[in-house]
Amino acid sequence: MVKLLQKIKPMKKSPIREIIDAIAYIRKIKGIEIINCHAGVPGLLMKTDIAEKFKEIYRPEISDYTGTRGDILLLETLSEYFKSQEMNVEPKDILITLGGAQSGLFLFSEVMGTSGQILLTTNPTYPGLIGPSKIFNVEIKGLEILPEDNYQIDLKKLEKALEGDPTISAFAFTSPGNPDGAIQKNVEGILEIAKKYDIFVLVDATYAGLDFSEDLEKEIHPFTTYKKAWNNHKEMMALLYSLSKGLRNPGARLGLILSGNKEFMNHIEVIQSFSAICPSVSQNFFQIAFSNRGEILHESIKEHIEFVKERIFQMYYSLKELSEKMQIDIQLPEPQGAFYIFAKIENLETIGKNKRKIVDVLMKDNEFHKGLKGELEFRKKEKVSSEEVGEKLMEMGPNDLLCKYILYKEIVKPYRVTITPGTGFFIPGEIPDDAENYIRISCSKLKSREEAKIAAKVLLEGVKQLEKIASI
Ligand SMILES: Cc1ncc(COP(=O)(O)O)c(C=O)c1O
Repeated sequence: MVKLLQKIKPMKKSPIREIIDAIAYIRKIKGIEIINCHAGVPGLLMKTDIAEKFKEIYRPEISDYTGTRGDILLLETLSEYFKSQEMNVEPKDILITLGGAQSGLFLFSEVMGTSGQILLTTNPTYPGLIGPSKIFNVEIKGLEILPEDNYQIDLKKLEKALEGDPTISAFAFTSPGNPDGAIQKNVEGILEIAKKYDIFVLVDATYAGLDFSEDLEKEIHPFTTYKKAWNNHKEMMALLYSLSKGLRNPGARLGLILSGNKEFMNHIEVIQSFSAICPSVSQNFFQIAFSNRGEILHESIKEHIEFVKERIFQMYYSLKELSEKMQIDIQLPEPQGAFYIFAKIENLETIGKNKRKIVDVLMKDNEFHKGLKGELEFRKKEKVSSEEVGEKLMEMGPNDLLCKYILYKEIVKPYRVTITPGTGFFIPGEIPDDAENYIRISCSKLKSREEAKIAAKVLLEGVKQLEKIASI
């Protein structure tokens, strides 16, 4: 018998990736339009003028290996870019990661992974941080953030958590946030507190620049939002960016870590020296984007903000208006940044309490049953019995049930809507009782405002229909 890492066995797959399989299945069914409200990647892809520029300067030499921290030309260009925005970043403070910001989270967890270290992070948080922490034995503790506070980190709660537990050695948060969509307003305050308790801080700024506030400076220099915090505290912090997402080229898979902490940088460099070298061709592409004070990058992000803003605010106002009309109790913080609305639907509580009844009805619903059975068979690559479908349904929380319901029942012809259940964004062992009332709605892939309106209608109608089944 092959001996495998036992701690992986009880771990669930990323809830975000799971839905991709369901989509792959449903795409095979003819006559269906999918409205994608689950994907966390830019819907508006790269501007073609960068590609054109790239063709102009392509040289065969850029097909060679580059250094472990990245191509020296890119490191220098990035340093120049940040300095031109008064952010004091030296080439030695930079490391380019292969595999987007996600591999930055792996590197971070790897160097934090000495036993006894505790990482504090917001609860909910991005599952891509929870997974690597588990793999590398970093114990995670949660700092609650709530929809009623617009998911802002409460500095008093942060201080209390650090004061009460001297084993916490680092604090990590996302801003713009995933799943919460929050822009943390007081990053400097967070760093001041961290300094007092000698805590290292990771700011995951994967969605840098996707900030809907009217602060012009942020829109013009999206990668330098944290420049004040950086210039004052760079030795006790790391900033994580996604080069690929930032330039609406998520498939290019490059990330960027900045830290003024020499030891941290040396540690991650050692690890990266034994893993794959970043592709030089993609690095060259980003070097072009960041040259001339990041002209192309800023233009690209400005355009992206407008694209996402239009869709996410349409979703927000449609949900707000319809939920009032339909008497659905939903907590819906106003969009601040990234692509996401992390909503709490109180009505899901009743649906959860009547799950047995709902499952019995759905098992007899041909359209729904056929859809879910087909998906399970597609995933397992073998026949699945009706009993298994029933068991799977009984394992689901009400938010999972809702996601499947709006995927397999045709509520507005010919549309199906994909959203992500919220439970997987909470830290295992610290999952609150109401976690199954949360859903994440992503607005990056909506084709139009019209699609946002339809998706909001389908979603809330889905809640009403499940509620009706529960009340029969
Ligand atoms: C908060 C956060 N960090 C990191 C990542 C990984 O991004 P990348 O595509 O650059 O690997 C994501 C992706 O969804 C994310 O939401």
